[in-house]
Amino acid sequence: MPKLPPPTDLKPYFLVLDDIDQEYGGRLDWPVFFGNDKPVEIDVGCGRGLFVFSASENRPDTNFLGIEIDYREGRRGARRLQKQERPNARIIGGDVNIAFTRMIEPHSVDAIHVYFPDPWWKRRHRRRRVFTDQFATLCAGLLKPGGHLHSWTDVEEYFGVISSLMNHHELFAACPAPEERGPEHDMDYQTSFERKKRQAGWQIHRGLWQRKPL
Ligand SMILES: C[S@@+](CC[C@H](N)C(=O)[O-])C[C@H]1O[C@@H](n2cnc3c(N)ncnc32)[C@H](O)[C@@H]1O
Repeated sequence: MPKLPPPTDLKPYFLVLDDIDQEYGGRLDWPVFFGNDKPVEIDVGCGRGLFVFSASENRPDTNFLGIEIDYREGRRGARRLQKQERPNARIIGGDVNIAFTRMIEPHSVDAIHVYFPDPWWKRRHRRRRVFTDQFATLCAGLLKPGGHLHSWTDVEEYFGVISSLMNHHELFAACPAPEERGPEHDMDYQTSFERKKRQAGWQIHRGLWQRKPL
C-alpha cells in the first residue's frame, strides 16, 4: 500500500511536521505561526488534547501547542479545537524530539507541560521514554528564563527519575509541587489521563521546575 499523505481537513488546527517544513520553512516562528506575539506554552504528548482545549479556553491571552506522535489522538483533539474555531490552540502530529531539536527558536517558550508520559514498563523499552536528561536540556534551551516545566504522572518510579534529573539539572530550579484540587465537573482535570487515573483512585505525582536566568 502506498503511504498516503495526511488529510488536510483539519488545517490549521492539526498539522504534521512535514507541513511545518513545507509551509513554514521548518521553523515554528510563533508570531507567524499563531499570528500574534502572545506567550506560548507547549503540551508534549498531548494525547486527545484536553489540556490544550481547556487551557486555551481559560487563558485566551496565551497560545497553546500540543505535540502528539499518534496522529489519531492528535486529530481527535484538533477536531474539538476546529469546532470552536479556537484561535490560540494548535496540535502538531509528530515526534517532539524532532520539533524540539530543529523547529523552535531558543528561549521562545513560556512553559512546557509533560503530563503522564508513557512509562514503557519493560526494562528493555525504557530507552523509549520521552523524559531523559537530553530532553530536559532541550527544554532548557527552548524555555525563556523564568519559564516553567510541569510534569505529572501516576508512575512513582518514573516520577522519581524525572524529579532526580530535574532537581540536579544545572539550568532548572525546583518549585513547590502544585497541590491537588477537587474537580468542579466531570471533565475538570488537567488531562484525560489525570481524569482516568484519579477517578480510579491513583495517586498523582506533580512536579514543577523553573528555568534559571541565562
Ligand atoms: C500516556 S499518554 C498521555 C497523554 C496526555 N498527556 C494525557 O495526560 O492524557 C502519552 C502520550 O505521549 C505521546 N508520545 C509518546 N512519545 C511521543 C513523542 N516522542 N512525541 C510526541 N508524543 C509522544 C503518546 O502517543 C501518548 O499520546
